[in-house]
Amino acid sequence: MATTRWWKDEIVYQVYPRSFQDTNNDGIGDLQGVIRRLDYLKTLGITMIWLSPVYRSPMVDMGYDISDYQAIDPQFGTMADFDELLKETKKRGIKLIMDLVVNHTSDQHTWFKQALADHNSPYRNYYIFKKTIDGQVPNNWRSIFGGSTWTAVPNEPGTYYFHTFAPQQPDLNWENPQLRQAVYRMINWWLDKGIAGYRIDAITHLKKDLDWVSLPPDGKDGLVSVIKKGQNRPGLNKFLDELKTATFKKYNAVTIGEAYGVPAADLPQFIGPDGYFSMIFDFSYLNIDIANVDEWYRGKADWTIKDLKKTIFSAQKAIKQAGGWTANVLENHDQPRVLSKLIKNSAEQTPQAAKALAAMYYFLPGVPFIYQGQEIGMKNFQRSSIKQFNDVSSINNYQTALKAGLQPKQALKLLNDRSRDNARTPMQWDNTQFGGFSQTQPWLELGNDRQGINVAAEEQDPASVLNFYRRMGKLRQDKRYHSTFIDGQLRELTVPDEVIGYQRQSASQTITVLVNLTATVQTVSRPTGSVLLNNHTKLQLNQNQLILKPYQAVIFG
Ligand code: GLC
Ligand code: CA
Repeated sequence: MATTRWWKDEIVYQVYPRSFQDTNNDGIGDLQGVIRRLDYLKTLGITMIWLSPVYRSPMVDMGYDISDYQAIDPQFGTMADFDELLKETKKRGIKLIMDLVVNHTSDQHTWFKQALADHNSPYRNYYIFKKTIDGQVPNNWRSIFGGSTWTAVPNEPGTYYFHTFAPQQPDLNWENPQLRQAVYRMINWWLDKGIAGYRIDAITHLKKDLDWVSLPPDGKDGLVSVIKKGQNRPGLNKFLDELKTATFKKYNAVTIGEAYGVPAADLPQFIGPDGYFSMIFDFSYLNIDIANVDEWYRGKADWTIKDLKKTIFSAQKAIKQAGGWTANVLENHDQPRVLSKLIKNSAEQTPQAAKALAAMYYFLPGVPFIYQGQEIGMKNFQRSSIKQFNDVSSINNYQTALKAGLQPKQALKLLNDRSRDNARTPMQWDNTQFGGFSQTQPWLELGNDRQGINVAAEEQDPASVLNFYRRMGKLRQDKRYHSTFIDGQLRELTVPDEVIGYQRQSASQTITVLVNLTATVQTVSRPTGSVLLNNHTKLQLNQNQLILKPYQAVIFG
């Protein structure tokens, strides 16, 4: 039987703890920092927090390389801090979800250490080892962060272990039932603690093709993307079904899958009424600017607002046909800032445009996710040297780009546009030297476009991006419109190419969302109802028409 979709009316805020708020002045954000800012978060109307990984980790992939699933990394605090955070969120009526990273662990996890130390250890079969006769790597698969998916095992000539991501992130062997049970016990341990659910990392990678054969190369490095043999492969469904039954289902937990590459035909299994997950993220338009999400060095894609619109509405249609629910996002810790990405002309990357993009996605069917800093309109960070980057994927893929023949300058330019470090600069709380994030030099440089883009300044300005997000939160939760925003049908409107226009309709109500995504004036038919939200001070209406100013977003209902 399908469980109730209790999570449908949540508004989720993603905290990337490392860059959120430092309280002990070591330059690294921590759990006490999240606690300190809970009252701020509450003002956004959010009802749930997704905490990016805070588990013990050597931080090669900033916490997505876990060395102990049941401990808090000392950089973030202690388990007592975590318990306090859970208590403090509950007090405020906010739910907490964690990040579940079970495609791989860190190479510093005791499971992996024991697997290396002793061939006969039961942990050997928790991971994927291959010995080749000729001593060469088992195949030509390229990892997502660049380079081979195989790393030689020290002191064991001809033996390699497998990793979809960095060499320090060995993949777990989901074929092994003992490993699966160990993972389920860990998940349930956290659910017993009282978390509401999980955002689930890299979940479509769990199943690999067991023939392990090489494929024709797709790059000058002679390698082929691991995605072709280790993402959404036949047999994945069995693992996901068992995972759900053994854990989430028992707790009626909310789960949001990071599920790249799920074909439309499989969506019902993933997010239908009895799917593996509550929702998956709609990433369809987050990568509209590039040919390949991980291999950004392959170049930019040409796109128009019309394409963006088409992508949004066709993704919505597929989700609806699947009987499913989506998690709507503009940003996350792996993506550039949306303002820098979707607004091509840098002169137009204004608070006005940030508000327009916000209105565009926030009222679509699904649960809106806000990534920290998005609500103040933070932008990408232009770096002038590869030395200024921290992210393992940025650095590795930069090397792959050079090998592919790109000039360093060219590679740096593409990297500046796509690096995951863009989203990871410290949160801008005020305009002091370290942005109110810390009293010392942060682990990653603050962004270099901070004028007016900080919480303290935006608190003072009724027209700020921040206050717009607050108004959106209030509107979505306003009892008069709530059920239409949650369950109303979506209808795309016929509007000019550069305008995103849609309606949400229930039996008794129609809400119209109109967003001009250009710097030119656009004219649309005058919607019925009164103005619920407007990102301009004025509204230009005549009898039959509504004139939308540059980057104006208006909601009628
Ligand atoms: C997901 C995470 C990303 C991480 C990767 C490997 O894509 O969002 O940050 O590097 O998985 O765990
Ligand atoms: Ca700290």
